[in-house]
Amino acid sequence: MKGMLKENSLEDKVILVTGGGSGLGKSMVKYFLELGANVIITSRREELLKEVAKDFNKKFKTEVFPIACDVRKIEEVEKVIEESFNKFGKIDCLVNNAAGNFISPTERLSTRAFDAVIDIVLKGTINFTLSLGKRWIKEKKEGNILNIVTTYSWTGSGYVVPSACAKSGVLSLTRSLAVEWAKYKIRSNAIAPGPFPTKGAWERLLPGELKEKFDPSKKVPVGRVGEHHELSNLAAYLLSDFSSYINGEVITIDGAEWLKGAGQFNHLEMITDQMWDMFEMMRKKK
Ligand code: HXC
Ligand code: NAP
Repeated sequence: MKGMLKENSLEDKVILVTGGGSGLGKSMVKYFLELGANVIITSRREELLKEVAKDFNKKFKTEVFPIACDVRKIEEVEKVIEESFNKFGKIDCLVNNAAGNFISPTERLSTRAFDAVIDIVLKGTINFTLSLGKRWIKEKKEGNILNIVTTYSWTGSGYVVPSACAKSGVLSLTRSLAVEWAKYKIRSNAIAPGPFPTKGAWERLLPGELKEKFDPSKKVPVGRVGEHHELSNLAAYLLSDFSSYINGEVITIDGAEWLKGAGQFNHLEMITDQMWDMFEMMRKKK
């Protein structure tokens, strides 16, 4: 599948992607490189980041700069930002993509289990946003923030409650800063993906037999899970200057999955044509 944007749409941009060494982060990074951006990737696994950078640096003209950090630790976050400025002289865009998640009945969770997820998703996003945002404001530089949330950021969801609490917070941060920091020419938007197969998400959210028992594509009206290039296209558009009037928005990319659960009569898709014929006959007889 070809990319949506024209060549060099992200030329001269420097983009920092947290969790950029795996899953959706890695797919976005690949497309940003194709479009001419330089990209910083960060996460805890240094070896993985180096491997990804080595591979991409062979394939693309622009550069991937790998640097390990735990988004929960502010001093590591600040080091990533400092070294990125030393390397590229600037950062134009921040993609807060790193996340931690698992399924569990809430009453089985320790407070440390809550902390683990909230500290990665909400505090990690705040750490990067605040550190980089302060620098942009001080140096009078424009900025663009893209947060990867979920559709349960606004519906909530059982069995992933730490993640739901944290992602709601990230969505609130997105909308709040879109207004407050617009005067500094810093935009803030979010993407809410539905199910997109990745090792990280599938291992933790569909462990063991759940993969066979709950096929995620069955919950999606369009009848399939998402493809990584679909999300990468949307992310690249939101980071590009083509979307410069979009600010404070959350764009859902889920084949209408969450709306299917929300619409009160959507379960009527189970009714066959024969049954609809029968209801029609009954109505006409009356
Ligand atoms: C209950 C759990 C648990 C589980 C960990 N804990 N896993 N509790 N069920 N499955 C508890 C531990 O017992 C411990 O509490 C506390 O959480 C911290 O655990 P650690 O293993 O020390 O945490 P840490 O090494 O920091 O790892 C963080 C993690 C891990 C979140 C637990 O899964 C991780 O590193 N994830 C990163 C990648 C990831 O999750 N990717 C998926 C994103 S998918 P105690 O009290 O015992 O010390 C996503 C999709 C959303 O977000 C929407 C899908 C449609
Ligand atoms: P993934 O590959 O597991 O991505 C999570 C990334 O976060 C990993 O690269 C991980 O790298 C990094 N990370 C975790 N904890 C970190 C920490 N403390 N410090 C730094 N980095 C950390 O899963 P994914 O599916 O691609 O998820 C990407 C994003 O999409 C997440 O925000 C997720 O919530 C969102 N999302 C995914 C789906 C889906 O269906 N896949 C649906 C909705 C939303 P390390 O382990 O090396 O640190």
